Amino acid sequence: MLAATVVVASAATTPIYLDESRPIEERVDDLLPRLTLDEKLAIIHAQSKFSSAGVARLGIPTFWTDDGPHGVRPDVLWDEWEQAGATNDSCVAFPALTCLAATWHPELAHRYGVALGEEARYRGKDMILGPGVNIYRTPLNGRNFEYMGEDPCLASLMVVPYVRGLQSLGVSACIKHYALNNNEHERHTTNVVVDDRALHEIYLPAFKAAVQQGGAWAIMGAYNLYNNEHLCHNRVMLNDILKRDWQFDGVVVSDWGGAHDTWQAINNGLDMEFGTWTDGLSEGARNAYDNYHLALPYKKLLLEGKVPMATLDEKVRRVLRLMMRTTLATRPRGSMCSQEHYQTARDVAAEGIVLLKNDKNLLPIDPARHRRVLVVGENAIKMMTVGGGSSSLKAQHEILPLDGLRQRLEADGVTVDYARGYVGDPTGEYNGVTTGQSLKDDRPAAVLLAEAVEKARQADVVIFIGGLNKAAFQDSEGDDHKSYGLPYNQDQLIEALARANKNLVVVNISGNAVAMPWRGQVPAIVQGWFLGSEAGTSLARVLVGDDNPSGKLPFSWYERLEDCGAHSVGDYPGTRRADENIWDEHYREGIYVGYRWLDKNKLKPAFAFGHGLSYTTFALSNAHLTGNTATVTVTNTGRRAGSEVVQLYITDVKSSVDRPAKELKAFKKVHLQPGESQVLTFDITRDMLSYYDSNSGQWTAEPGDFIVRLGTASDRLPINLKFKLQ
Ligand code: BGC
Repeated sequence: MLAATVVVASAATTPIYLDESRPIEERVDDLLPRLTLDEKLAIIHAQSKFSSAGVARLGIPTFWTDDGPHGVRPDVLWDEWEQAGATNDSCVAFPALTCLAATWHPELAHRYGVALGEEARYRGKDMILGPGVNIYRTPLNGRNFEYMGEDPCLASLMVVPYVRGLQSLGVSACIKHYALNNNEHERHTTNVVVDDRALHEIYLPAFKAAVQQGGAWAIMGAYNLYNNEHLCHNRVMLNDILKRDWQFDGVVVSDWGGAHDTWQAINNGLDMEFGTWTDGLSEGARNAYDNYHLALPYKKLLLEGKVPMATLDEKVRRVLRLMMRTTLATRPRGSMCSQEHYQTARDVAAEGIVLLKNDKNLLPIDPARHRRVLVVGENAIKMMTVGGGSSSLKAQHEILPLDGLRQRLEADGVTVDYARGYVGDPTGEYNGVTTGQSLKDDRPAAVLLAEAVEKARQADVVIFIGGLNKAAFQDSEGDDHKSYGLPYNQDQLIEALARANKNLVVVNISGNAVAMPWRGQVPAIVQGWFLGSEAGTSLARVLVGDDNPSGKLPFSWYERLEDCGAHSVGDYPGTRRADENIWDEHYREGIYVGYRWLDKNKLKPAFAFGHGLSYTTFALSNAHLTGNTATVTVTNTGRRAGSEVVQLYITDVKSSVDRPAKELKAFKKVHLQPGESQVLTFDITRDMLSYYDSNSGQWTAEPGDFIVRLGTASDRLPINLKFKLQ
């Protein structure tokens, strides 16, 4: 009797908004009227560098965000960018998103999201600021490493499982940077001018997929402008496209310092304001949060009756919905630095590393033949998890490429020697996290080069590990690269090494393509990305053949910068207006981004979008179309187990509008033992045949002939099937 009474009493006192058995909208309806005006305003803007207020009196916790997107960023002080000094915030650094995209393996993206979500939960974070899906428009963009390549289909299919995986832990994703933030140079003052077709066909699909298929609970406005309005409070992009057309029911978060105008912040779709330096406050250690556009300035307008309460309630409703999904939900506790997380990091790296070239099967390294291995280059010994801007991490460990190779090869009795070759960036610090490495080397460049060449002559194989790093003007937030070429005279060094030893492997570590004037002289080239905590282990496993590479480029590797549409006609990086500090950047190449541009202009890339070799071989056979279904058999015709990505592109044979020669519309990755085959099927949907009609604002598929192209790279599509849309 007594027990029953207690149960009834507690059920009666649980407010509806805390009752998880009730629908979220009902809980939001219950909670909203309980909040005072000040409480409403408090939850829609920051109270510290990474948090916004809850409502303590109602048991609503503080809301904690954190970067994103490659691991959970270490804690900074409440209102300063320096480290909080926590000793429990070392994380697993996962490979950068370019590497994830290069796996072409959506299931891995899901595992990535889950692992990150578990780390976020353990650290008490409610929102991870990421992933980013801005399209790779120019190889100079300093932030491409945080994104998923040049193709809207690839980025869409990879972002959706990441978001679902992350949010399955009750941690919100925050898709960034919405939208058109395709370069870092002048990112606060660039006004992008782009036609509607390119906007909808190229730049928006991955965001739309993240919202509609991934169910993302939040999205971050970009720093730059579109239609002369900053994207953190942009009427067309936020109110019209995101909220009205896509029916997004989540929260629009400003990028840190991305809100500039109180009226626009109120009316143009922003829901939560973070990191802004307002009212003349400049960037600094301390910000006055009350001065945020969505704080006292908003309150003043509300009290004066100049803006309606309904707009505020709409924002609060969205934030409360986010809380129901996160801080007010029962969630798993998560875990940090588990063996599973490291395994996920290794698997993403193993499948993302791209074997670009492998003449005479120089790779994999064979410990029986290659007894003396020389490793050259700064990136073999440089930590890459620190630096690059907001995605910088404090990794529990980072295995360097040289250490990974030594550990793997010395076990087989191979001698591994090292020569620095060049000095690039010997620093290693970000927001108070230091690598602790001492990379200073004062020897003149000529001495370093001569030493490397001399040692190269003695070696059976030379592995050069260079590329870019996370220093300013490289793969780093806030600036773009100044040129397409490799920095620090690496070209000269690579050419000298190629002359000294014909068994040269070049491993390029970067999130971007770079010019490779020595491409013809180097027999083996590997794209290594920023690989995170397990970088060295992962690289060694691929180079030695423990893992068979299966990564495919998520972008076109241009021979020359001028072969990229943005640099040929696209007006990068824009032109400064005569009378104000705004740079108009006209995306004149329109829909012709990446391989679409190369195809249109009959240009051959150094390495094509979707290209990537394996240590085994594959064949496609028995391709046919039955109704709307394309079928193809893929067979491993070599002697090692391996994975292949079968890619499907569509060509519209005759169209009333200009259309790209081909466009990626689907892909599947399969793992096959030697001799094993698998039959793959692809359903050809109307969406795959459509283009965005800017006159009607609709996606349109015109009846007529299409070609379904199947193959293993955008420049290797041996199968062409005719398809007719009635
Ligand atoms: C970056 C965002 C990041 C935010 C918070 C900004 O500078 O553009 O991507 O999430 O800082 O660190």
